Amino acid sequence: MANEWGPLGALAGSWEGEGGLDTSFHHADDKVGGTPYLEKVTFAPFGPVDNGSQHLYGLDYKTAMWRNDEQDPFHTEIGYWLWDGATGEILRAFSIPRGITVLAGGHADADATSFTLKAAVGDPQYPIGEGQYLTANASSVSYEVTVTVGDGTWSYAETTMLRMKELPDLLPHTDHNTLHKVAVHHFPG
Ligand code: HEM
Repeated sequence: MANEWGPLGALAGSWEGEGGLDTSFHHADDKVGGTPYLEKVTFAPFGPVDNGSQHLYGLDYKTAMWRNDEQDPFHTEIGYWLWDGATGEILRAFSIPRGITVLAGGHADADATSFTLKAAVGDPQYPIGEGQYLTANASSVSYEVTVTVGDGTWSYAETTMLRMKELPDLLPHTDHNTLHKVAVHHFPG
């Protein structure tokens, strides 16, 4: 894809990965546990978006994760990934329907095949926003994701540090997966 999208260009398209693994506090078991998952992601390119002299190119994305053969996903995200070619800034703005929005940011070269983005609650530049219940009971203190692009694959590893009211210490809530490109089938005509 044209290099207006910088390191994000390699992500355009539809992807699946069945080797996902989540670690989180499971209320049903009252303890920390692991959850293997299947994930489906789509990234649709757009741009430029002009903010005055800034020209952003981006991908709008949706992702969903399923456990075993469950019908409904147990985790979803929608949002945007953005690239500012003039500064090398990458932004990932996304929402999780627990009442969380994240604007994670970082920098990379246009031809980078790996990059890291960060956000933190209360950060003036790259904040995590959350509702009142979560602030009191399960606050997302910080977030960090590293994306690595391979040959026909891409991977992420992310850690959200959670302040859980059930636990004495911050909990690293971690997720990682490797996604493979899938064909998109169009109806004829
Ligand atoms: C691949 C990405 C993710 C998956 C698959 C995932 C999955 C999960 C799971 C399974 C739980 C445990 C629910 C339970 O059994 O009680 C959980 C809890 C939670 N997650 Fe995530 N999560 C992901 C990313 C994130 C991110 C990026 C954030 C915040 C920036 C986040 C914030 C939370 C919070 C605050 C809770 C605690 C909710 C509660 O205990 O009331 N998660 N997540």
